[in-house]
This record gives sequence, C-alpha cells and structure tokens, in this order.
Amino acid sequence: MSRSAHPAGPRHADVYPEGHYTAPATDLNELDPKVWSRTVTRDADGALTVGGIEVARLAEEFGTPAYFLDESDFRARCRAWSDAFGPDADVFYAGKAFLSRAVVRWLQEEGLNLDVCSGGELATALDAGMPAERIAFHGNNKTVAEIERAVEAGVGRIVLDSSQEIVRVAHVAQRLGVRQRVQIRVTVGVEAHTHEFIATAHEDQKFGIALADGLAAEAVRRALTLDGIELIGIHSHIGSQIFDMAGFEVSARRVVQLLAEVRDEHGVELPEIDLGGGLGIAYTSEDDPREPHEIAKALSDIVTRECESAGLRTPRISVEPGRAIVGPTAFTLYEVGTIKPLEGLRTYVSVDGGMSDNIRTALYDAEYSVALVSRSSDAEPMLVRVVGKHCESGDIVVKDAFLPSDLAPGDLIAVPATGAYCRSMASNYNHALRPPVVAVRDGEARVIVRRETEEDLLRLDVG
Ligand code: LLP
Repeated sequence: MSRSAHPAGPRHADVYPEGHYTAPATDLNELDPKVWSRTVTRDADGALTVGGIEVARLAEEFGTPAYFLDESDFRARCRAWSDAFGPDADVFYAGKAFLSRAVVRWLQEEGLNLDVCSGGELATALDAGMPAERIAFHGNNKTVAEIERAVEAGVGRIVLDSSQEIVRVAHVAQRLGVRQRVQIRVTVGVEAHTHEFIATAHEDQKFGIALADGLAAEAVRRALTLDGIELIGIHSHIGSQIFDMAGFEVSARRVVQLLAEVRDEHGVELPEIDLGGGLGIAYTSEDDPREPHEIAKALSDIVTRECESAGLRTPRISVEPGRAIVGPTAFTLYEVGTIKPLEGLRTYVSVDGGMSDNIRTALYDAEYSVALVSRSSDAEPMLVRVVGKHCESGDIVVKDAFLPSDLAPGDLIAVPATGAYCRSMASNYNHALRPPVVAVRDGEARVIVRRETEEDLLRLDVG
C-alpha cells in the first residue's frame, strides 16, 4: 500500500534486536505536514490542535475514538482539484471514500460533482440536495431498483459496467420514457502498482468491459443501437492509492484509441472520457503524492496529444478523486488503554478502537503513522504496534511505528490520514459502536456523523 517499508532514521539495532527497525531521524513531536491536515499544529504546551482547538478539549467533548475532519482543508482540496482541471473538465468526488450530508453540501458549495456507487450513497446525495445532474452512478451490479431510482432522479450519468447492464438500463429508461446519459466502463489491461484488492484495470477482475478481444467495441455497438440510452463517453478507473502516473497515461491512451475506433466504425465522436480516481496520498513521511495540478497537466497533455494524432476533437475529461480529497483531511483520536512491552520484540499499545474504525491495516497491509498528541515528550523513541480492542490478533491499527517511551495509559494518540475508507468501511464487529465524525473549522467543532449508541445496535435486532 503505502510505499514506506519501515520507519526511517539512524540504526538502533541494539535497542531493537529484530535489527531491521531503525529509530526515527526526526523529533517525534514534529508533525509532518505531508500526513497531517492543514490546520494541525502543536500549541505552546505541546498539545496538538486542529482548526485552533486542542485535542484534549475535543476528546472531552466528543469522546474517543473519534474522527476529526479539518473542514477548511477539505474545502481547499476540492478547490485545488477543480482549479487544476479548470472549466473544461469535471471533478467528481468519489463518495465511497467518505460521504455524509455535510460533505455533500461542501461539495456543492465548492463546485464539485459527486460519484455514488450504491442506492444508499445516492439517497444521501439527493437528501442533502445535490442536483441529480451532478451525480454519476457507478457499480458493477446495480439492482433494477437502484437503476430505477437513479433514472427517475435524473442522474447526470450512469456508468455501465457489463453487457447485461447496458440492456437493463436502456429498458428501465425506456419504460420511464427518458433517454439516460451513460458511459461505458472499460478495463484497459493496465497493471496498476498498488495492492491487488484495489487494482481494477487488469483483465482478471470483476469491473468493466475489457478492451481486449473487441468486447468494449461490441458494448459500444450495442449501446448505440438502444433507444433508452445516450452514450456520452468511455470510463476507466485503474485502481486506488497509485503514485505512478504511467498507468493513468496508458489508460488515457487506450481510451482515446477506442474513441478513434468508434468514430471510424460509427461516425460518432463520443464527447467525454472519465479517467477515474485512484491518486495516492501520504500515509507516512515516505510517501510522495502528486499535486492535483501535476495530475491535471499530465492527463490533459496525453489526451490532447493522442486526440491530435487520431484526428479527434479533444473530449471533455472527468476525474473521480476520493482518497486524494478526503484522506488527508482527518485523523482518528484514540485513548491509550494498556501498554505491554514484549522483551526483545516491541511494545503493544492498545487503544479504544481498532479494526472496526480502521480495517485498512488488516485488509491491505496499509501503513499508517501515529503520534502522541495530548502532550509533547522528549523521552526516547520506542518501537510500538498500535492495536485495537477486538478479539483478533490481526486487529492492528499501526503495524510499526515509534512513540515516546514515557507513553502512559490515558494519553491521547492520533493516527493521521484516516479521512478516506475508514469511517466508510467501519463495522460493528464485536458490537463496537462506530465513532463519530466531527468537523472542525475556525475554532468550532460540530458532529457531522454522530457516534453510534447501544440503542442503534439494538434497534436493528428485532428477534
Ligand atoms: N472511481 C471509481 C470508479 C472507483 O471505483 C473508485 C474507488 C474511485 C473513483 C475513487 O478512488 P480513490 O481516488 O479514492 O482512490 N477501500 C480501498 C479503496 C477502494 C477504492 C474503490 N474504488 C482502500 O481503503 O484503500
């Protein structure tokens, strides 16, 4: 996942007998702006503040574990993406990374569109007032009920993922007496350099329709004959948490090649292409993500060049960043419960959350950083594994990191870059109560998703 192999710094093999862990070169009190959201800093007493509020106050008011989302950072990242792509392109925030009514409102205010991939995400978007024409509806197995809801609402586009779905959407639209704008999602045959579970453009997986063997061309042929749908473009999403632009460039080139084939066969120039999301963020100081303007330039240069050489008008480009917008904007705040030094190995630090609020470490071997945030400390670094309170030894939040050796129960620690795919993938395992999301901005903090209660759990249990 994250490219960092181990915490970096000078070797302390005698302190850490496993030999391959090295103590951090930097002061543990330093907060690397690459992994922390923009308004995070330490105050004069050494405590972390976000949006001008100290973490101890946040913990007291909202409890732990909790996600704190830096709203001005979120808005700034939305603007950076839309400014980078400019008026001739569309940015769709991928709601699967994290979605709530407040987020939908921020997106509207910052001029972004929204990509949803389920009936639940669609319902949230519509409920919060996102105009349907600014919504793209995704998914590899949308139900007929979901398709009907999306078509009735008037979503701007449905991204078709299979040959069955082309017909299914066309029939629903025809029945409802409308012509639904659609894109076809293709798999371009690129091996993205990321974890196997989040790579989506190689051929042996469930998403999209392969360019290989003429399958995508066949899908286009079929879509162009059906009255209920208007084919507006081709979509490709190659995977997630990707740093290398090469995969996106190959994908863009292959999508443009398909546009040229469509023009040659049908005399139609499809007006849009969507190059998906997937841009990586920094989870640790070792990661070096690209800035939105670099990404925009690389993508638009390649599309323009390929279209020129194919004699095509340049299509309107859209992108769907999720993680790159929300990921860096939040941290999870935990309270330390127990500390177990294992002689010759490492120290296990147990916190009051775990795999129910962040499954990514267990699922993808994701790497995270962690810091003591309720105070600063000049104590020696100790190698730790931050673990949760669930009944699994794989319940790991941060696999290898350093914290000060005077860490004590009751201290607050925070894991940065948990804005994406943490709350949205949270579970009730062991009947854990999913933590709240608290938006912090200009000295004010407000709950945007409240903490679950035991009543919430019991309400579903109707036996
Ligand atoms: N567009 C499509 C069609 C997608 O499937 C996805 C993510 C995105 C956009 C947004 O990708 P992003 O910019 O956030 O990388 N749970 C995994 C990530 C799964 C991504 C699924 N699709 C994780 O925690 O790493």
